[in-house]
Amino acid sequence: MIFCLLRILRTPRAGGMPLPAAGGRARWATRAGLILAMAGNAIGLGNFLRFPAKAAANGGGAFLIPYFCALLLLGIPLMWVEWTMGRHGGRHGHGSTPGMFSLMWKHPVSKYLGALGIILPFSVAVFYCFIESWTLGYACFSGAGTYFGQETREAMGAFLRGYQGVEANAHFASVLPAVLFLAAALSINYLFLRRGIAGGIEVLARWAMPLLFVFALVLVVRVLTLGAPDPAQPDNSVLAGLGFMWNPDFSRLSSAQVWLVAAGQIFFTLSLGQGMINTYASYLAEDQDVTLNGLTTSLANEFAEVILGATIAIPAAVAFFGLAQTQEIARQGAFDLGFVSMPVIFQKLPLGQLFGAMWFLLLFFAGVTSSVAMLQPVIAFLQDELGWSRPRAVNSVFLALLLCVAPVVAFFRHGFLDELDFWAGTLGLALFAVIEIVVFSWVFGARRGFEEMHRGAELHVPGIFRFIMQYVTPLYLIAILGAWIVQDAAGRLLMEGEEPARRPYLWGARVLLLIISAAVLWLVRLAWRRRAARAEA
Ligand code: TRP
Ligand code: TRP
Repeated sequence: MIFCLLRILRTPRAGGMPLPAAGGRARWATRAGLILAMAGNAIGLGNFLRFPAKAAANGGGAFLIPYFCALLLLGIPLMWVEWTMGRHGGRHGHGSTPGMFSLMWKHPVSKYLGALGIILPFSVAVFYCFIESWTLGYACFSGAGTYFGQETREAMGAFLRGYQGVEANAHFASVLPAVLFLAAALSINYLFLRRGIAGGIEVLARWAMPLLFVFALVLVVRVLTLGAPDPAQPDNSVLAGLGFMWNPDFSRLSSAQVWLVAAGQIFFTLSLGQGMINTYASYLAEDQDVTLNGLTTSLANEFAEVILGATIAIPAAVAFFGLAQTQEIARQGAFDLGFVSMPVIFQKLPLGQLFGAMWFLLLFFAGVTSSVAMLQPVIAFLQDELGWSRPRAVNSVFLALLLCVAPVVAFFRHGFLDELDFWAGTLGLALFAVIEIVVFSWVFGARRGFEEMHRGAELHVPGIFRFIMQYVTPLYLIAILGAWIVQDAAGRLLMEGEEPARRPYLWGARVLLLIISAAVLWLVRLAWRRRAARAEA
């Protein structure tokens, strides 16, 4: 990581710098901006909430073994593949995966497979923006001390359920505050997306990412200096927390489940398998470096995840709640950790309102720099393939987003969000990643792909990675996808163990996904018909 940063800092400004776009295609303005935007794309709520919960629940330090295997064999190779595909597409005027796939695979079906790289990120954005807006709400509640006085996990749990509209209670009579914060979060996304790549997304990343790192470092130092906060319970300490996070439980490695969770976390956290990275890479200059920049992005994400993310929420939870309760919190999942346990802890800290606001703003910055990246693929598609102006594309996408977000909020308590998360945010990623790696390594060809990746490269990737990209990554991915389908998807599809009352809502979520898919497929067909008609004329 440090090595990469040094090399980048040493590069003369003009060296890897993009020239002004030739064909009017938008470009990143600076290399630092590009890296910050890409890191912002990858660093999200997953780094600070999902990773600590998953690692603590799946073997602690031993979890890092399957996790780093997945990083090396899946994450980094796919990161390079997506950057390479993206830059190649951008050079030919395609900023989204339907166009990128059709360049690499001259078959009529390729553009429809590529449509998944628009459908998935948009569908994830539909629920991700809602979660992101909670962090904005909680940043305000922390600063204002709104929840101070709700000192137990039970009380904060009720506060969260009231806010989410799961139940009307003494804290919230309706879901209106949540809707207002959602409107605020969506407006911020809208404003930056309207301003475009260099003027919007890059500016956002230049402000939000440094602040995110500063807030995270402050919180890490605060957590590391907690000691044992309750003198009556000297066993509940940060040291015990770090031990809980990192003491390896190697017996867990024999469970296939742990390997699946680790691989899933790698996709999720690096924003892979959804066309999000591809689209950002399409705004690179023609021969701008892919290998070193792609690696730097991955390492920046891992630093934020394994060093910063793992040192805040879980160790703090152990210091205040003890091991047994933290285990239960981790099993309850990411939201309990972030929105219930952490607010209880802030109430016990001096300057807790300030630290609380910092924690939730940190999460908001992490979230917003990822959600703009989820919305950019469909915007790029409308601009590049249908020739729409940016304002028209952004306005239309936000109108569609508003329509789709409404049921997520209204039916949140019936499991609507989780259903979208499973199909689009978990299974969909693995499926699309398999398609991508096969198109890249087998249709386009691993040799050609490796050459394309090294055009303008500042870092020579060892040849062994060509072998990995050709054989290991696809097989690894297919194994994971297969295992998920066998283990989870079949039961999920049949809604095993779901209460009958929830089923109509889960069906609703699936219908929404089908509508989004159908709309995108239809637009792809329209775009290619128009192009064919233009070619004939
Ligand atoms: N990588 C980001 C994160 O860690 C955002 C993200 C990308 C994401 N793909 C996702 C979140 C799929 C949920 C589902 O949060
Ligand atoms: N709900 C998941 C859990 O509790 C984590 C999760 C899914 C998540 N989607 C998310 C966390 C989006 C943050 C953002 O483990």
